[in-house]
Amino acid sequence: MKNQIEIKKKIKSFNEIINVSGDKSISIRTVLLASQAIGKSKIYNLLESEDVINSLKSIKRLGIKYKKKKNYYEINAFGLNGYNSKKDLIIDAGNSGTLGRLLLGLLVNFKKSVKVTGDESLSRRDFSRITNPLKNFGAIIKTKNSSLPVIIKGTDFLRPIRYFENLGSAQCKSAVMLAAIKTPGLTVIKAKPSRNHTELLFKSLKIPIKIFKKNKYDHIEIKGISNFRGFEYNVPGDISSSSFFIVLTLLANNSKIIIKNVNINLTRIGIIKILNKMGAKINFINKKKYKGELISDIVVKSKRNLIAIDCPRKLNSSAIDEFLIIFLVAARAKGVSKFRNLGELNKKESPRLDLAIDFLKRIGVKVIRKKDDIQIYGNPKINLEKQFIIKNFMKDHRIFMMTCIAALTFGGNFKIYDKNSIKTSFPDFLKILTKLGAEIN
Ligand code: S3P
Repeated sequence: MKNQIEIKKKIKSFNEIINVSGDKSISIRTVLLASQAIGKSKIYNLLESEDVINSLKSIKRLGIKYKKKKNYYEINAFGLNGYNSKKDLIIDAGNSGTLGRLLLGLLVNFKKSVKVTGDESLSRRDFSRITNPLKNFGAIIKTKNSSLPVIIKGTDFLRPIRYFENLGSAQCKSAVMLAAIKTPGLTVIKAKPSRNHTELLFKSLKIPIKIFKKNKYDHIEIKGISNFRGFEYNVPGDISSSSFFIVLTLLANNSKIIIKNVNINLTRIGIIKILNKMGAKINFINKKKYKGELISDIVVKSKRNLIAIDCPRKLNSSAIDEFLIIFLVAARAKGVSKFRNLGELNKKESPRLDLAIDFLKRIGVKVIRKKDDIQIYGNPKINLEKQFIIKNFMKDHRIFMMTCIAALTFGGNFKIYDKNSIKTSFPDFLKILTKLGAEIN
Protein backbone atom coordinates (compact mmCIF):
# COMPACT_ATOMS: atom_id res chain seq x y z
CA MET A 1 0.00 0.00 0.00
CA LYS A 2 1.08 3.52 -0.75
CA ASN A 3 2.53 5.25 2.29
CA GLN A 4 1.70 8.80 1.27
CA ILE A 5 -1.44 10.86 0.81
CA GLU A 6 -2.45 13.99 -1.05
CA ILE A 7 -4.76 16.71 0.22
CA LYS A 8 -5.63 19.40 -2.33
CA LYS A 9 -8.79 20.91 -0.90
CA LYS A 10 -9.85 22.49 2.35
CA ILE A 11 -12.53 20.58 4.23
CA LYS A 12 -16.11 21.77 3.63
CA SER A 13 -18.36 22.65 6.54
CA PHE A 14 -19.51 19.63 8.64
CA ASN A 15 -21.72 18.86 11.60
CA GLU A 16 -21.00 15.41 13.04
CA ILE A 17 -20.87 13.25 16.14
CA ILE A 18 -17.78 11.02 16.33
CA ASN A 19 -16.02 8.57 18.62
CA VAL A 20 -12.24 8.40 18.83
CA SER A 21 -10.41 5.24 19.88
CA GLY A 22 -9.33 4.37 23.42
CA ASP A 23 -6.76 6.41 25.33
CA LYS A 24 -3.22 5.22 24.59
CA SER A 25 -1.73 6.01 28.01
CA ILE A 26 -4.54 4.21 29.83
CA SER A 27 -4.53 1.28 27.37
CA ILE A 28 -0.82 0.58 27.92
CA ARG A 29 -1.14 0.98 31.70
CA THR A 30 -4.13 -1.37 31.98
CA VAL A 31 -2.34 -4.05 29.94
CA LEU A 32 0.81 -3.79 32.06
CA LEU A 33 -1.09 -3.73 35.36
CA ALA A 34 -3.31 -6.64 34.30
CA SER A 35 -0.08 -8.58 33.68
CA GLN A 36 0.73 -8.13 37.40
CA ALA A 37 -2.69 -8.97 38.83
CA ILE A 38 -3.78 -12.31 40.23
CA GLY A 39 -6.37 -13.87 37.92
CA LYS A 40 -8.40 -12.63 35.01
CA SER A 41 -8.70 -9.02 33.82
CA LYS A 42 -11.05 -7.79 31.11
CA ILE A 43 -10.23 -4.61 29.23
CA TYR A 44 -12.94 -3.07 27.06
CA ASN A 45 -12.36 -0.52 24.30
CA LEU A 46 -8.60 -1.15 24.41
CA LEU A 47 -6.85 0.95 21.77
CA GLU A 48 -5.83 -1.44 18.97
CA SER A 49 -2.73 0.42 17.81
CA GLU A 50 0.85 -0.77 17.40
CA ASP A 51 2.01 0.68 20.74
CA VAL A 52 -0.70 -1.23 22.58
CA ILE A 53 -0.33 -4.43 20.53
CA ASN A 54 3.40 -4.29 21.35
CA SER A 55 2.44 -4.04 25.04
CA LEU A 56 0.33 -7.20 24.70
CA LYS A 57 3.15 -8.98 22.84
CA SER A 58 5.62 -7.93 25.56
CA ILE A 59 3.61 -9.47 28.39
CA LYS A 60 3.15 -12.60 26.29
CA ARG A 61 6.96 -12.95 26.00
CA LEU A 62 6.98 -12.80 29.80
CA GLY A 63 4.61 -15.76 30.09
CA ILE A 64 1.30 -13.91 30.47
CA LYS A 65 -1.53 -15.09 28.21
CA TYR A 66 -4.07 -12.82 26.60
CA LYS A 67 -7.04 -13.43 24.32
CA LYS A 68 -9.07 -11.14 22.18
CA LYS A 69 -12.78 -11.69 22.88
CA LYS A 70 -15.71 -10.06 21.10
CA ASN A 71 -15.47 -6.62 22.70
CA TYR A 72 -12.69 -6.95 25.24
CA TYR A 73 -9.21 -8.34 25.82
CA GLU A 74 -8.84 -10.96 28.52
CA ILE A 75 -5.50 -11.18 30.35
CA ASN A 76 -4.69 -13.97 32.82
CA ALA A 77 -1.83 -13.32 35.22
CA PHE A 78 -0.18 -14.60 38.38
CA GLY A 79 0.64 -11.61 40.58
CA LEU A 80 3.71 -9.47 41.21
CA ASN A 81 6.14 -12.38 40.78
CA GLY A 82 4.23 -13.96 37.92
CA TYR A 83 6.46 -13.25 34.91
CA ASN A 84 8.09 -16.37 33.63
CA SER A 85 10.55 -17.37 30.92
CA LYS A 86 12.93 -20.28 30.55
CA LYS A 87 15.53 -18.16 28.82
CA ASP A 88 16.87 -14.63 28.56
CA LEU A 89 14.64 -12.47 26.38
CA ILE A 90 14.62 -9.70 23.83
CA ILE A 91 11.52 -7.50 23.96
CA ASP A 92 10.79 -4.93 21.26
CA ALA A 93 8.95 -1.82 22.51
CA GLY A 94 8.58 -0.59 18.91
CA ASN A 95 7.88 3.15 18.83
CA SER A 96 6.53 3.46 22.38
CA GLY A 97 8.41 5.38 25.08
CA THR A 98 5.61 4.61 27.51
CA LEU A 99 5.86 0.85 26.94
CA GLY A 100 9.69 0.81 26.99
CA ARG A 101 10.00 2.82 30.17
CA LEU A 102 7.08 1.37 32.15
CA LEU A 103 8.03 -2.19 31.25
CA LEU A 104 11.57 -1.64 32.58
CA GLY A 105 9.93 -0.60 35.88
CA LEU A 106 8.09 -3.92 36.01
CA LEU A 107 11.25 -5.94 35.31
CA VAL A 108 13.17 -4.91 38.46
CA ASN A 109 12.36 -8.24 40.14
CA PHE A 110 12.57 -10.51 37.06
CA LYS A 111 15.54 -12.86 37.34
CA LYS A 112 16.23 -13.51 33.64
CA SER A 113 18.02 -10.87 31.68
CA VAL A 114 15.80 -8.90 29.26
CA LYS A 115 17.10 -6.78 26.42
CA VAL A 116 14.59 -4.03 25.62
CA THR A 117 14.88 -2.70 22.07
CA GLY A 118 12.92 -0.19 20.00
CA ASP A 119 12.53 1.23 16.50
CA GLU A 120 14.79 3.94 15.07
CA SER A 121 12.84 6.75 16.76
CA LEU A 122 12.69 5.11 20.21
CA SER A 123 16.38 4.15 19.95
CA ARG A 124 17.42 7.79 19.85
CA ARG A 125 15.47 8.73 23.00
CA ASP A 126 16.93 9.12 26.47
CA PHE A 127 16.54 6.12 28.76
CA SER A 128 18.96 7.23 31.47
CA ARG A 129 16.09 9.26 32.93
CA ILE A 130 14.58 5.93 33.90
CA THR A 131 17.51 3.52 34.19
CA ASN A 132 19.13 5.71 36.90
CA PRO A 133 16.27 5.43 39.40
CA LEU A 134 15.72 1.74 38.53
CA LYS A 135 19.40 1.00 39.32
CA ASN A 136 18.81 2.59 42.74
CA PHE A 137 16.11 -0.02 43.44
CA GLY A 138 18.85 -2.65 42.95
CA ALA A 139 18.21 -3.85 39.38
CA ILE A 140 21.29 -4.48 37.25
CA ILE A 141 21.10 -2.41 34.09
CA LYS A 142 23.42 -2.09 31.12
CA THR A 143 23.04 0.55 28.45
CA LYS A 144 25.21 2.39 25.95
CA ASN A 145 24.88 6.17 25.49
CA SER A 146 21.78 6.33 27.73
CA SER A 147 19.61 4.85 25.00
CA LEU A 148 18.14 1.55 23.84
CA PRO A 149 18.94 -1.29 23.82
CA VAL A 150 18.80 -1.52 27.60
CA ILE A 151 19.60 -4.83 29.28
CA ILE A 152 17.98 -5.33 32.67
CA LYS A 153 18.35 -8.14 35.19
CA GLY A 154 16.15 -7.96 38.24
CA THR A 155 16.82 -9.04 41.79
CA ASP A 156 15.08 -10.37 44.93
CA PHE A 157 16.92 -7.81 47.00
CA LEU A 158 15.11 -4.64 46.03
CA ARG A 159 15.22 -1.61 48.29
CA PRO A 160 12.73 1.28 48.24
CA ILE A 161 13.97 4.63 46.95
CA ARG A 162 13.30 8.35 47.30
CA TYR A 163 12.92 9.80 43.83
CA PHE A 164 12.68 13.38 42.62
CA GLU A 165 10.99 13.70 39.20
CA ASN A 166 11.58 17.21 37.91
CA LEU A 167 10.82 16.94 34.16
CA GLY A 168 7.05 16.63 34.53
CA SER A 169 7.36 13.20 32.90
CA ALA A 170 4.56 10.74 33.63
CA GLN A 171 6.61 7.97 32.05
CA CYS A 172 9.44 8.42 34.57
CA LYS A 173 7.04 8.75 37.49
CA SER A 174 5.04 5.70 36.40
CA ALA A 175 8.10 3.50 35.80
CA VAL A 176 9.24 4.21 39.36
CA MET A 177 5.71 3.61 40.68
CA LEU A 178 5.62 0.20 38.96
CA ALA A 179 9.02 -0.73 40.39
CA ALA A 180 7.74 0.40 43.80
CA ILE A 181 4.92 -2.18 43.82
CA LYS A 182 7.59 -4.91 43.49
CA THR A 183 9.71 -3.54 46.33
CA PRO A 184 9.24 -4.12 50.07
CA GLY A 185 8.98 -0.92 52.12
CA LEU A 186 7.95 2.61 51.26
CA THR A 187 9.00 4.29 47.99
CA VAL A 188 8.65 8.06 48.16
CA ILE A 189 8.30 10.18 45.00
CA LYS A 190 8.30 13.96 44.69
CA ALA A 191 7.11 14.76 41.18
CA LYS A 192 6.38 17.80 39.06
CA PRO A 193 2.68 17.35 38.14
CA SER A 194 2.06 15.20 35.06
CA ARG A 195 -0.69 12.87 33.85
CA ASN A 196 -1.89 10.81 36.83
CA HIS A 197 -3.49 7.72 35.26
CA THR A 198 -1.11 5.37 37.07
CA GLU A 199 -2.02 6.93 40.44
CA LEU A 200 -5.76 6.60 39.70
CA LEU A 201 -5.37 2.99 38.60
CA PHE A 202 -3.39 2.16 41.75
CA LYS A 203 -6.19 3.68 43.84
CA SER A 204 -8.92 1.79 42.03
CA LEU A 205 -6.94 -1.47 42.43
CA LYS A 206 -6.42 -0.73 46.14
CA ILE A 207 -2.64 -0.78 45.77
CA PRO A 208 -1.38 1.04 48.91
CA ILE A 209 -0.69 4.61 47.74
CA LYS A 210 -0.84 8.02 49.42
CA ILE A 211 -0.76 11.24 47.41
CA PHE A 212 -0.64 14.83 48.58
CA LYS A 213 0.38 18.17 47.08
CA LYS A 214 3.12 20.26 48.67
CA ASN A 215 4.67 23.40 47.15
CA LYS A 216 3.32 22.62 43.66
CA TYR A 217 4.81 19.11 43.65
CA ASP A 218 2.98 15.81 43.98
CA HIS A 219 4.20 13.66 46.85
CA ILE A 220 3.49 10.00 46.29
CA GLU A 221 4.14 7.19 48.76
CA ILE A 222 3.77 3.57 47.71
CA LYS A 223 3.97 0.55 49.98
CA GLY A 224 5.25 -2.40 47.99
CA ILE A 225 4.53 -6.12 47.54
CA SER A 226 0.81 -6.03 48.01
CA ASN A 227 -0.80 -8.27 45.38
CA PHE A 228 -4.04 -7.23 43.71
CA ARG A 229 -6.77 -9.11 41.85
CA GLY A 230 -7.67 -9.09 38.17
CA PHE A 231 -9.97 -6.23 37.22
CA GLU A 232 -12.31 -4.88 34.57
CA TYR A 233 -11.64 -1.60 32.81
CA ASN A 234 -13.46 0.29 30.08
CA VAL A 235 -10.94 2.58 28.37
CA PRO A 236 -12.33 6.07 27.56
CA GLY A 237 -11.59 7.96 24.33
CA ASP A 238 -8.21 9.64 23.89
CA ILE A 239 -8.03 13.43 24.29
CA SER A 240 -4.76 13.48 22.32
CA SER A 241 -6.43 11.80 19.34
CA SER A 242 -9.47 14.07 19.80
CA SER A 243 -7.27 17.16 19.67
CA PHE A 244 -6.77 16.87 15.89
CA PHE A 245 -10.55 17.01 15.35
CA ILE A 246 -10.97 19.76 17.92
CA VAL A 247 -8.54 21.97 16.01
CA LEU A 248 -9.90 20.88 12.61
CA THR A 249 -13.38 22.01 13.68
CA LEU A 250 -12.15 25.23 15.24
CA LEU A 251 -10.27 26.24 12.06
CA ALA A 252 -12.82 24.93 9.52
CA ASN A 253 -15.71 27.06 8.22
CA ASN A 254 -19.04 26.97 9.98
CA SER A 255 -18.66 23.46 11.43
CA LYS A 256 -19.52 21.64 14.61
CA ILE A 257 -18.41 18.39 16.19
CA ILE A 258 -19.33 16.37 19.25
CA ILE A 259 -16.67 13.88 20.32
CA LYS A 260 -18.21 11.23 22.57
CA ASN A 261 -16.86 9.73 25.76
CA VAL A 262 -13.40 11.30 26.00
CA ASN A 263 -11.08 11.21 28.99
CA ILE A 264 -10.86 14.79 30.30
CA ASN A 265 -8.60 14.13 33.27
CA LEU A 266 -7.40 17.56 34.49
CA THR A 267 -3.78 16.50 33.90
CA ARG A 268 -4.57 16.02 30.19
CA ILE A 269 -6.71 18.97 29.14
CA GLY A 270 -4.07 21.69 28.78
CA ILE A 271 -5.13 21.98 25.13
CA ILE A 272 -8.71 22.86 26.06
CA LYS A 273 -7.55 25.51 28.56
CA ILE A 274 -5.14 26.97 25.98
CA LEU A 275 -7.66 27.03 23.12
CA ASN A 276 -10.38 28.54 25.32
CA LYS A 277 -7.94 31.29 26.34
CA MET A 278 -7.45 31.89 22.59
CA GLY A 279 -11.16 32.50 22.15
CA ALA A 280 -12.50 29.00 21.38
CA LYS A 281 -15.63 28.02 23.25
CA ILE A 282 -15.10 24.30 23.80
CA ASN A 283 -17.62 22.71 26.14
CA PHE A 284 -17.83 19.49 28.11
CA ILE A 285 -21.27 17.87 28.31
CA ASN A 286 -22.51 14.64 29.96
CA LYS A 287 -19.62 14.62 32.44
CA LYS A 288 -19.14 11.51 34.54
CA LYS A 289 -16.52 9.87 36.70
CA TYR A 290 -15.18 6.37 36.10
CA LYS A 291 -12.61 4.80 38.44
CA GLY A 292 -11.32 8.26 39.28
CA GLU A 293 -11.10 9.42 35.65
CA LEU A 294 -13.30 12.28 34.37
CA ILE A 295 -15.05 11.49 31.10
CA SER A 296 -17.29 13.65 28.93
CA ASP A 297 -18.48 14.53 25.45
CA ILE A 298 -16.61 17.46 23.91
CA VAL A 299 -18.46 20.07 21.85
CA VAL A 300 -16.51 22.31 19.46
CA LYS A 301 -17.64 24.92 16.94
CA SER A 302 -15.66 26.81 14.31
CA LYS A 303 -14.32 30.17 15.42
CA ARG A 304 -13.21 33.01 13.16
CA ASN A 305 -11.62 35.48 15.56
CA LEU A 306 -9.01 33.60 17.52
CA ILE A 307 -6.50 35.55 19.57
CA ALA A 308 -2.86 34.94 20.43
CA ILE A 309 -1.88 33.45 23.79
CA ASP A 310 0.94 34.01 26.25
CA CYS A 311 0.89 30.37 27.28
CA PRO A 312 1.49 29.76 31.01
CA ARG A 313 4.34 27.27 31.52
CA LYS A 314 2.27 25.42 34.09
CA LEU A 315 0.10 24.11 31.24
CA ASN A 316 3.05 22.53 29.40
CA SER A 317 2.82 19.07 30.92
CA SER A 318 -0.95 18.75 30.52
CA ALA A 319 -0.68 19.69 26.81
CA ILE A 320 2.65 18.02 26.07
CA ASP A 321 1.46 15.88 23.13
CA GLU A 322 -0.79 18.60 21.73
CA PHE A 323 1.59 21.50 21.08
CA LEU A 324 2.04 20.65 17.39
CA ILE A 325 -1.66 21.08 16.78
CA ILE A 326 -1.93 24.08 19.14
CA PHE A 327 0.76 25.82 17.04
CA LEU A 328 -1.60 25.68 14.03
CA VAL A 329 -4.18 27.63 16.01
CA ALA A 330 -1.48 30.16 16.96
CA ALA A 331 -0.62 30.46 13.24
CA ARG A 332 -4.23 31.53 12.51
CA ALA A 333 -4.75 33.69 15.64
CA LYS A 334 -4.50 37.47 15.75
CA GLY A 335 -1.28 38.57 17.43
CA VAL A 336 1.94 36.95 18.59
CA SER A 337 1.61 33.78 20.67
CA LYS A 338 4.33 32.90 23.16
CA PHE A 339 5.23 29.43 24.41
CA ARG A 340 8.10 28.77 26.82
CA ASN A 341 10.23 25.93 28.12
CA LEU A 342 9.30 23.45 25.43
CA GLY A 343 12.60 21.53 25.45
CA GLU A 344 10.80 18.27 26.28
CA LEU A 345 9.10 18.43 22.87
CA ASN A 346 12.43 17.63 21.26
CA LYS A 347 12.62 14.44 23.35
CA LYS A 348 9.50 12.88 21.80
CA GLU A 349 9.09 10.46 18.88
CA SER A 350 10.89 13.09 16.77
CA PRO A 351 12.42 16.49 17.63
CA ARG A 352 8.97 18.05 17.53
CA LEU A 353 9.90 21.57 18.49
CA ASP A 354 12.51 21.79 15.69
CA LEU A 355 10.20 20.15 13.16
CA ALA A 356 7.18 22.28 14.09
CA ILE A 357 9.22 25.45 13.61
CA ASP A 358 10.50 24.20 10.21
CA PHE A 359 6.95 23.38 9.17
CA LEU A 360 5.48 26.72 10.24
CA LYS A 361 8.24 28.60 8.43
CA ARG A 362 7.70 26.56 5.28
CA ILE A 363 4.04 27.53 5.19
CA GLY A 364 5.03 31.18 5.59
CA VAL A 365 4.41 31.70 9.30
CA LYS A 366 6.93 33.91 11.12
CA VAL A 367 8.43 32.15 14.14
CA ILE A 368 11.12 33.43 16.47
CA ARG A 369 12.92 30.95 18.69
CA LYS A 370 15.12 31.57 21.70
CA LYS A 371 16.40 28.24 23.03
CA ASP A 372 13.24 26.41 24.11
CA ASP A 373 10.90 29.40 23.88
CA ILE A 374 9.02 30.33 20.71
CA GLN A 375 6.91 33.16 19.41
CA ILE A 376 4.45 32.51 16.60
CA TYR A 377 3.23 35.49 14.57
CA GLY A 378 -0.36 34.62 13.71
CA ASN A 379 -2.10 35.50 10.45
CA PRO A 380 -5.93 35.33 10.61
CA LYS A 381 -6.01 35.42 6.79
CA ILE A 382 -3.59 32.54 6.26
CA ASN A 383 -4.46 30.85 2.98
CA LEU A 384 -1.96 28.59 1.19
CA GLU A 385 -1.81 28.03 -2.54
CA LYS A 386 1.55 26.43 -3.24
CA GLN A 387 2.54 22.78 -3.33
CA PHE A 388 4.10 21.30 -0.19
CA ILE A 389 5.83 17.95 0.13
CA ILE A 390 6.11 16.99 3.78
CA LYS A 391 8.50 14.18 4.59
CA ASN A 392 8.45 12.84 8.10
CA PHE A 393 11.94 11.53 8.69
CA MET A 394 11.28 9.98 12.10
CA LYS A 395 7.85 8.72 11.00
CA ASP A 396 6.20 10.64 13.83
CA HIS A 397 2.45 9.98 13.95
CA ARG A 398 1.63 13.39 15.42
CA ILE A 399 3.65 15.25 12.75
CA PHE A 400 1.67 13.39 10.07
CA MET A 401 -1.72 14.14 11.67
CA MET A 402 -0.86 17.79 12.34
CA THR A 403 0.13 18.22 8.68
CA CYS A 404 -3.21 16.77 7.52
CA ILE A 405 -5.10 19.28 9.68
CA ALA A 406 -2.99 22.16 8.32
CA ALA A 407 -3.71 21.03 4.74
CA LEU A 408 -7.46 20.75 5.39
CA THR A 409 -7.78 24.18 6.98
CA PHE A 410 -5.05 26.41 5.48
CA GLY A 411 -5.36 25.18 1.88
CA GLY A 412 -2.48 24.45 -0.50
CA ASN A 413 -1.65 21.27 -2.30
CA PHE A 414 -0.06 18.85 0.14
CA LYS A 415 1.72 15.59 -0.41
CA ILE A 416 2.24 14.06 3.03
CA TYR A 417 4.56 11.09 3.61
CA ASP A 418 4.49 8.27 6.16
CA LYS A 419 0.79 7.63 6.48
CA ASN A 420 1.60 4.35 8.26
CA SER A 421 2.89 6.31 11.25
CA ILE A 422 -0.71 6.68 12.47
CA LYS A 423 -0.76 2.95 13.24
CA THR A 424 1.19 3.59 16.46
CA SER A 425 -1.52 5.67 18.11
CA PHE A 426 -4.60 6.21 15.96
CA PRO A 427 -5.14 3.81 13.04
CA ASP A 428 -8.68 5.19 12.42
CA PHE A 429 -7.54 8.79 11.97
CA LEU A 430 -7.96 9.00 8.18
CA LYS A 431 -11.21 7.03 8.24
CA ILE A 432 -12.76 9.59 10.61
CA LEU A 433 -11.42 12.52 8.55
CA THR A 434 -13.07 11.02 5.47
CA LYS A 435 -16.34 10.62 7.40
CA LEU A 436 -16.19 14.36 8.14
CA GLY A 437 -15.89 15.03 4.41
CA ALA A 438 -12.14 15.42 3.92
CA GLU A 439 -10.98 14.57 0.40
CA ILE A 440 -7.85 12.48 0.75
CA ASN A 441 -6.11 10.68 -2.10
C1 S3P B 1 2.96 9.52 28.38
C2 S3P B 1 3.66 10.57 28.92
C3 S3P B 1 4.24 11.66 28.12
C4 S3P B 1 3.62 11.71 26.73
C5 S3P B 1 3.54 10.35 26.09
C6 S3P B 1 2.68 9.43 26.94
C7 S3P B 1 2.45 8.47 29.28
O1 S3P B 1 5.64 11.44 27.99
O2 S3P B 1 4.38 12.57 25.90
O3 S3P B 1 2.97 10.45 24.81
O4 S3P B 1 1.61 7.66 28.87
O5 S3P B 1 2.88 8.44 30.44
P1 S3P B 1 6.70 11.93 29.10
O6 S3P B 1 6.42 11.22 30.33
O7 S3P B 1 8.05 11.59 28.53
O8 S3P B 1 6.48 13.43 29.19
